[in-house]
This record gives sequence, C-alpha cells and structure tokens, in this order.
Amino acid sequence: MTLEPSKLAMVPFVSVENMMKFVHHIGIERVLCDLAHEIEADFKRWELFDKTPRVGSHSDVGVIELMPTSDGEMYGFKYVNGHPKNAGEGLQTVTAFGLLADVYSGYPVMLSEMTVLTALRTAAMSAVATKALAPKGAKIMAMIGNGAQSEFQCLAIKAYCGIETVRLYDIDPAATVKCAANLTTTGLRVEPCSSIEEVVEGAQIITTATADKDMQQILTDNHVGAGVHINAIGGDCPGKTELHRDIVSRSTVFVEYPPQTRIEGEIQQMDPDHPVTELWEVLAGKTNGRTSLNEVTLFDGVGFAIEDFSALRYVHSWIKDTPYFDDLDMIADPDDPRDLFGMLQRAK
Ligand SMILES: NC(=O)c1ccc[n+]([C@@H]2O[C@H](COP(=O)([O-])OP(=O)(O)OC[C@H]3O[C@@H](n4cnc5c(N)ncnc54)[C@H](O)[C@@H]3O)[C@@H](O)[C@H]2O)c1
Repeated sequence: MTLEPSKLAMVPFVSVENMMKFVHHIGIERVLCDLAHEIEADFKRWELFDKTPRVGSHSDVGVIELMPTSDGEMYGFKYVNGHPKNAGEGLQTVTAFGLLADVYSGYPVMLSEMTVLTALRTAAMSAVATKALAPKGAKIMAMIGNGAQSEFQCLAIKAYCGIETVRLYDIDPAATVKCAANLTTTGLRVEPCSSIEEVVEGAQIITTATADKDMQQILTDNHVGAGVHINAIGGDCPGKTELHRDIVSRSTVFVEYPPQTRIEGEIQQMDPDHPVTELWEVLAGKTNGRTSLNEVTLFDGVGFAIEDFSALRYVHSWIKDTPYFDDLDMIADPDDPRDLFGMLQRAK
C-alpha cells in the first residue's frame, strides 16, 4: 500500500508562469487567431451547449462570478472577478482561474490560471465579432480604455482582421503611454490621442474596454459615424455600461447569450425586448450580420462561458505534450474507492 498519490489523483495545472511560456512558445498572434477559430467553431455548434447566465455575487465594489458550460463531453467553468477600484490599489481589475472536466467520469482534466487566458479569449472574441460585422477592409481602430485588456484587443484584431492602425485613448494618460509602449514592436501604427473626439476620428472600428462601476457614457451618439463597428466589452455587469443609449438605439445589436446580456450588457439600458441578433446565428450562416455600408453594428460583448470553454479546451489540447504544466495531487484516489476513510487513516 502506497501513500504516494496515484496517476489518477493528478490533475494538470497550468500556472501563470506556464501560461506565459506556452503563449510565447506558440506566438501570441497565433494563439489569438487559434482561439478565435476555436470560439467560432464552438459558436457554430451553439445549440449543443448547456447555457445559463453566469452566477454573480455582487458587492458595492465589484463582482465575483462563476461561468459554467458543457458540450456533453467536457464540462468547464471559470471563476472571475471584476473590481474596477482594484487598479488604484495596485491590484488587477479582473483575475480568473478555470477548470475542465470529463463528463463521463466527472474527473477534472485540467486546472488553469485564466487571468491571462481571459484577456486572450476576450480579445479573440472581439476579433471574431469584428471579422463578422466590421466594414470590409477596415484598417483603423480606436481603442478606448488602455488598461489590462487593451493590447490584447489591438493585437487580436490586427492578427485576425487585418487592422493596421490603432488610435489610443484613456482618461489616465499613463495608461495610454503604457499601451503605446507595449505595442511598439507589433507592426501596428500606434496613435496616442488625448480626447474621445480625437480617438474616434477616421476609425472604422471602435473598441471600448473601460472599467468603472457605473452607467458611463464614454461614447455619445455624435462620436459614432455611419458604418462604424463597435465592440463594447467594458459594460459587463448590472449597473455598468459604456455607451449612451442613443448609440444602442441606432445600432444593430449583436450579443452572445441574450438572457445574460440583457442583465449585464449595454442593452440593460433598453426595453427588455429590445431587438438583438445572436452572434452564433451570424457565424453559422443562419442570419445576416452587417447588411449595409452605413449601418452601425454593435457587439455588446459581456463574455460568455462557451468562450472560456473553447479557451480551456485549446490549452488542454496543446499542453499535453509540453512541459508547460505541473501535476497537482487534487483527486483523492484510495486503492479501494469505498475506503476513503482508510486512506486518510493510513496517512497519519
Ligand atoms: N466582455 C468581456 O468578456 C470582458 C472580459 C474581461 C474584462 N472585461 C471588462 O473590460 C474592462 C476593462 O478591463 P481591464 O482589465 O482592461 O481593466 P483595467 O482597470 O486594467 O483598465 C481599464 C482602463 O479604463 C480606463 N477608463 C476608465 N474610465 C474611462 C473613461 N471614462 N474613458 C476612458 N478610459 C477610462 C482606466 O483609466 C483604465 O486604464 C472592465 O470593465 C472589465 O470588467 C470584459
């Protein structure tokens, strides 16, 4: 009888350090494109998945959420927080970790950090929406909110949709300086701006990723010209939006999962039956995306569990044959499955 954990007890764990090594091993732009492909493929089989709005625990300063889903073969969930005040206290606004499990045995097959992975998958999701909805040949994007998510958004939309220029704006100029510096070697033309009016000038795509626990109006109707595509990803919680409702009224709105977006997205400002199109239907060819050059398209992105599932499965499929994980002794595995107590006693 051994006290050493058995092979079945071990669950691969991808730490932040290993996630970063993995991303550099593959190359960040390739990872972003791979994730975009994985998300698209999973959105095309949308009907297979268990779907539920995420379970949020709200406080005055932020939210902690659980995001589960399953495709019948694998099960995944993510723990994620959103605390806009954290940045001012030297902490991340968003941190996350997640787990992938085998539906047949119920055993976890991977535990992973998901703070870096969430930034990658959120950017990949915006890239998927942008490719489907933005005017063809769009080359200039305005990136409003230059915090943790921003460089990922810029790179994903460059790699997947072919933009060449990013115009940057943040109420905190230091964030814009940081973002511009991080993007210098990416091949993007980077144009720091000092106002909302300046940043949207000439942009065919506008991406907002600001953090504030409030109904903000980062963009008002006069900032949005005909034909623009907007990715609004920072409004992702009840009582937290980024766009003036006139922009939402004027746009064709595309969402991930309506029951969740109606609670958390820009459309929380609108009537409960405000018309929306589910992005998966566009990707699956069941309905139209953009139908005219002048149309304003809005991806009201709040982040849905299937995107995290796609990301976890992608990492799981890759890390098996790499050194980028540690084995965690996570599952109690007694020699006799019914003798858990005996196993505990023998460990004295
Ligand atoms: N939709 C999704 O799937 C998804 C995923 C991850 C994060 N998010 C959300 O994206 C937002 C950004 O996340 P982050 O990790 O980059 O946060 P962050 O705190 O690192 O950065 C947010 C930036 O927004 C700036 N900002 C705040 N108010 C602004 C304003 N009025 N105008 C311009 N800039 C302003 C801040 O100065 C800061 O630099 C958060 O609200 C987060 O909850 C959404």
